[in-house]
Amino acid sequence: MGMKDMLLELREKALQDLQAAKDSQELQDLKVKYLGRKGPMTEILRGMGKVPAADRPKIGEVVNQVKQTLEQTIRDRAEILKEEALKAKIANEKVDITLPGRKPACGHLHPLTLTAREIKRIFIHMGFDVIEGPEIDNDYFNFEALNLPKDHPARDMQDTFYITDNYLLRTQTSGVQARTMQAHEPNTPIRMISPGAVYRNDYDATHSPMFHQVEGLVVDRDISLADLKGTLELFCREMFGDDVKIRLRPSYFPFTEPSCEVDISCVICGGKGCNVCKHSGWLEILGAGEVHPNVLKMSGYDPSIMNGYAFGMGIERIAMLKYGIDDLRLFFENDLRFIRQFR
Ligand code: DAH
Repeated sequence: MGMKDMLLELREKALQDLQAAKDSQELQDLKVKYLGRKGPMTEILRGMGKVPAADRPKIGEVVNQVKQTLEQTIRDRAEILKEEALKAKIANEKVDITLPGRKPACGHLHPLTLTAREIKRIFIHMGFDVIEGPEIDNDYFNFEALNLPKDHPARDMQDTFYITDNYLLRTQTSGVQARTMQAHEPNTPIRMISPGAVYRNDYDATHSPMFHQVEGLVVDRDISLADLKGTLELFCREMFGDDVKIRLRPSYFPFTEPSCEVDISCVICGGKGCNVCKHSGWLEILGAGEVHPNVLKMSGYDPSIMNGYAFGMGIERIAMLKYGIDDLRLFFENDLRFIRQFR
C-alpha cells in the first residue's frame, strides 16, 4: 500500500472515531492517540526520509492536509460536545415550578397544654397569680404541712415514688399552698393557682402514674364558701359554657374543713342522664373547702384573723370532659392520630 493510501485510510478511521467520541475526555484521548508524539502521524512524518525525493512534496502535502483535517474536526467536535454537555446539565437541573410546595412540618400544642392554658387564662382574669412548685418535694410539704401527719390514714390513698425516705415525687399540688404562705410575711393575703405534674402509684383507664393538677388557694379576711362557690361557678361557665350548673357535695380532705366535692351538670347529656355521668346527670370535677385552721397555723398564718378556701382539680379530667375523651391514657401514648385532632 502506498504512503498516500495509508494516510487516507488513517484519516477515515480517525474521523470515524472522532465522530463517535461521547465526551471531551474521550475526544482528548483520541487526539493523543492520533496526533500525539507516539501516534501514527508522527511516525509517518519521521519516515518521510525513506520516501523518494521526487514524491516528497506531494506526500508532504497530503500529510499536512490529513493533519489539518483531523485538528479541525477535533475542534468542531469539542465545540459540539461542550454544547451537548451544557444542554444535558440544564435539562437535569430543571425545576418543575408547577409542583405543589412542600409544607413545613408544623407542630402544635398538646391537648393538656391547651387545657392548662385555658384554666390559667380564666383564673388570671379573676386576679389569681400563677405559682409553680417543685415536682420532687419532701414529706413535710406534700403531707405534714397539709395536716397529714405521718400516721394519717389518708396517706394510703396517695402512694408515690420515693427518692429517699424524705423526698418523693409529689402526689398533689396542695403542697404549694404551704410553700406559698411560708414564702410570704404571715397573714399576707394570697390569691393563687398552681398547675403542674403530680405522681401516684396508679394505672388504669382513668389513672396514670403521672398526671396534672391545678391547685387554688385564696387567703384573706372573711373569705366564705360563697366566695368559693361563686369563683368556681364562673370558672366552670368559662370552661364548659354558660349553661353548665354546679353543685357542692360534702366530702372530706385533711387540709380543709368543711370540705366538699364539686360537680358540674353533665356536659354530654346536659343533666338528663347518660353513660358518661352514669345516669346521675352530674360529673365530679374537683375537691375544695375552707382551709383548715391547722394548715394556716403550721405555715405561720393566724386562723383567728385569716381564713380562706382551697381547691384542687385534675387537668386530665377537665380535658376529658371538655373534649369528650374516654381514656386518659390517650394523652400519654403519643399516637399522632389522637394528638392531631387538637391542631
Ligand atoms: N389534693 C387533693 C387531691 O389530690 C385535691 C384537693 C382537694 C385540693 C381539696 C384542695 C382541696 O386544695 O381543698 O385529691
